[in-house]
Amino acid sequence: MNNQTIPVITIDGPSGAGKGTIAQMLALDLKWNILDSGALYRTLAYFMLQQNIKLKDFEENMLFIKSNFKVKFDPGTIGEPVKVIFNNDDITKKVRTEDIAKKTSDLATDPLIREFIRPCQRDFMVQPGLVADGRDMGTVIFNDAKLKIFLTASIEERAKRRQSQLKRQGSEVNMRLLLQELEERDKKDTEREHSPLIPAEDSVVIDTSNLNPEGVVKEIKTYL
Ligand code: C5P
Repeated sequence: MNNQTIPVITIDGPSGAGKGTIAQMLALDLKWNILDSGALYRTLAYFMLQQNIKLKDFEENMLFIKSNFKVKFDPGTIGEPVKVIFNNDDITKKVRTEDIAKKTSDLATDPLIREFIRPCQRDFMVQPGLVADGRDMGTVIFNDAKLKIFLTASIEERAKRRQSQLKRQGSEVNMRLLLQELEERDKKDTEREHSPLIPAEDSVVIDTSNLNPEGVVKEIKTYL
């Protein structure tokens, strides 16, 4: 079947705006596939670390990386992060650390990396539909999407959410440090030359600072 007929909802926005939770709830509700593109970048960073491949050596190792880069997502259950399955291993916890996030953010500024990841992302577009979560889902990767959502929230609220998410996963992180890391990541994501984080012109922008996830999902479903 032609890809054009597969419906896609893109959910973009900065870290901690609620993309993961909302994408997960929508995917479970609609019984659609899910693409956590941040986790895809994180998995690539994790794999390169594991294989000791530096960014400058990416091109010469591209064939090896390509043939070993088999990632799947399972929306899992609400309240738990979306599961990341890499070469049949559940690496969810390993890639959702602040250390990997920082390395990923550096890696994601590289045009070669973005070009490599692009077809991997398009491959997730299968029936009955796809909920794609990231930074450039609506602007670049699925600019033909049926519905584009851009989620935002104040930086304080996003840091609070990140802190409780990390706490649930068993790590304690200092609030000041989290705020600083979020600021750095926002700056890198919005100011980078390739695929910067900006709302698509035809996106619906929702500020989630004072909304609960159910309220956000309800609002998104009114646009479907
Ligand atoms: O969303 P998450 O925090 O897992 O993303 C990790 C990092 O991956 C982000 O800080 C961003 O730099 C990068 N990313 C990206 N483009 C995407 C998704 C994530 O550059 N579509």
